Amino acid sequence: MCGIVGYLGKRQALPVIIKGLKRLEYRGYDSAGVALLNGGLEIVKKKGKVADLESEIGNRKLEASLGIGHTRWATHGEPNDRNAHPHTSSDGKLAIIHNGIIENYSSIKKELESNGHVFKSDTDSEVLIHLIEEIKKQNNCTIEEAVRLALNEVVGAYAIVVLSKDNERSMIAARKGSPLVIGIGEDEYFVASDATPIIEYTNNVTYLNDQEMAIIKDGSLVVKNLENVTKTPFIQKLELDLEDIEKGGYPHFMLKEIFEQPKSIRDAMRGRLVSREHHLFLSGIDQYLNRFLNADRLILVGCGTSWHAGLIGEYLFEDIARIPTEVEYASEFRYRNPIVTERDVVIAVSQSGETADTLAAIELAKSKGALIFGVCNVVGSSIARASHAGAYLHAGPEIGVASTKAFTSQVTILTMMALYLGLKKGTISLSDYQTLLLELDSIPDKVAKILTKDEEIRNISENFYRASNFLYLGRGFNFPVALEGALKLKEISYIHAEGYPAAEMKHGPIALIDEDMPVVFIATKDSSYEKVISNIQEVKARKGKVIAIVTDGDTEIQSMADFTFQIPKTADALVPLLAVIPLQLLSYHIAILRGCNVDQPRNLAKSVTVE
Ligand code: AGP
Ligand code: GLU
Repeated sequence: MCGIVGYLGKRQALPVIIKGLKRLEYRGYDSAGVALLNGGLEIVKKKGKVADLESEIGNRKLEASLGIGHTRWATHGEPNDRNAHPHTSSDGKLAIIHNGIIENYSSIKKELESNGHVFKSDTDSEVLIHLIEEIKKQNNCTIEEAVRLALNEVVGAYAIVVLSKDNERSMIAARKGSPLVIGIGEDEYFVASDATPIIEYTNNVTYLNDQEMAIIKDGSLVVKNLENVTKTPFIQKLELDLEDIEKGGYPHFMLKEIFEQPKSIRDAMRGRLVSREHHLFLSGIDQYLNRFLNADRLILVGCGTSWHAGLIGEYLFEDIARIPTEVEYASEFRYRNPIVTERDVVIAVSQSGETADTLAAIELAKSKGALIFGVCNVVGSSIARASHAGAYLHAGPEIGVASTKAFTSQVTILTMMALYLGLKKGTISLSDYQTLLLELDSIPDKVAKILTKDEEIRNISENFYRASNFLYLGRGFNFPVALEGALKLKEISYIHAEGYPAAEMKHGPIALIDEDMPVVFIATKDSSYEKVISNIQEVKARKGKVIAIVTDGDTEIQSMADFTFQIPKTADALVPLLAVIPLQLLSYHIAILRGCNVDQPRNLAKSVTVE
């Protein structure tokens, strides 16, 4: 986590940094800080949001054309002023901002303390700047050499930017495991955790690779690896619009992103689903078609919402393409010595493409010979780059911490993959394939129709926003939707919520049901409709309150549920793309009614680049 911004050029650095930090705030908002270099090093840091930092700065004149800024998601040391970044060396001449975890910080710290270093914070990050200082002193070397040598000693993940008081026109950045992009303008350079702070100044960027450092000095950029071998940076053009990263009239990014789904789902299909020709084009699969067709197993790895999309993928791949499929939490997979062979295909599902556990899971699978296929949103992200092939979501930046549009785009991509493989394997008939393609093509319009009924969901929310617990139940393709609905509610409204397969309720959770327990059923007209009706009856018999997501025109459930919300009819396999929309809106409205900060829920961060 953490957002990093650095600027060196002809403008005032502070406004560029503050604006950039606001864009990166989704990555962490425990504290924020800046360091500006202009003769001396001026540092201001403050617990809380970037806005708190701004008030702390107040009217102070911090003029400089070189500076760094940080917005923190605490891993080591509580969120307070003292632990806010930037951190400085003992002599106060060096400053660092850091994203990641220095795993061996404790042993390094002990050694440095015995050499007289005094630490001012509880963070792992501060250790790194003292280590750089110590190495510089002992080797009497340049600051860039000291950074390089220090990074060779640390274990863990980092994206860093270092300033030195003695080097007025230089900034040093490096990365391992945490993202870092460098923007190259005219006589100016930017460094940031993602491209959003850079976009309005330049669209020429280069992404640093792992174990590489960038030395921006005397108006030029030098990239080298930690072995001191100079690299030629690959400069690419950013394809990102400024308006994509702004709220566009919505009160919150989350709401904007929920309402963008007709477009983002369409964008996931663009150039891939050509309904006129009744055909799919998936070049990422074509490149490795035989590996897919002969795979013993597909293994989907991901975390949180992306894991839920993976679960839907499992139903799709097994049902449509008849390929044995497993879905794994990346964080468990990587540590349990999994059996993976070169006959497996591992599909990494990740919005950010930076989730540390997912990245480590694919590195492990890759080392065992598996083919890695990335389903990521962020172009050029670490997971996308570590994959052999993949399909981007093209959902545009997702800024709300609670994932919404990325989920439906992930499911859209996985659906197209399953259909494509099913056709190639001959496990789906041409007519079923074409029918599903046409149906998939109609999903964006159906999502738009659901969104026009937002007011209905808001009314339902008013009846339940004071609840302390919620259950979400669904079967088959809708079981992962129940999990996702529960996660959305937990994340942004802090109401305890659980998702279960509806039939599993009687094996335990039924004990929780009383007149205070709202139960959300995804009860659309599909093959398990009758069974779900029985489950609704079981809840009503125990006085639970039922909110049911049903298919348009359903009157049967209306007569037994407390509230129903109708969604358009579609094929069973595609229902998740529609059923999740009212659940996203429900969590949004409940969180608003409870006065919660939906875009920046407590304790969370958008991109989890630590284990
Ligand atoms: C979703 O609402 C979450 N904030 C979280 O579960 C997220 O899906 C998870 O951290 C995975 O992120 P990724 O898709 O960027 O890998
Ligand atoms: N480990 C550092 C800290 O706690 C950086 C945290 C992060 O990148 O998430 O301050």
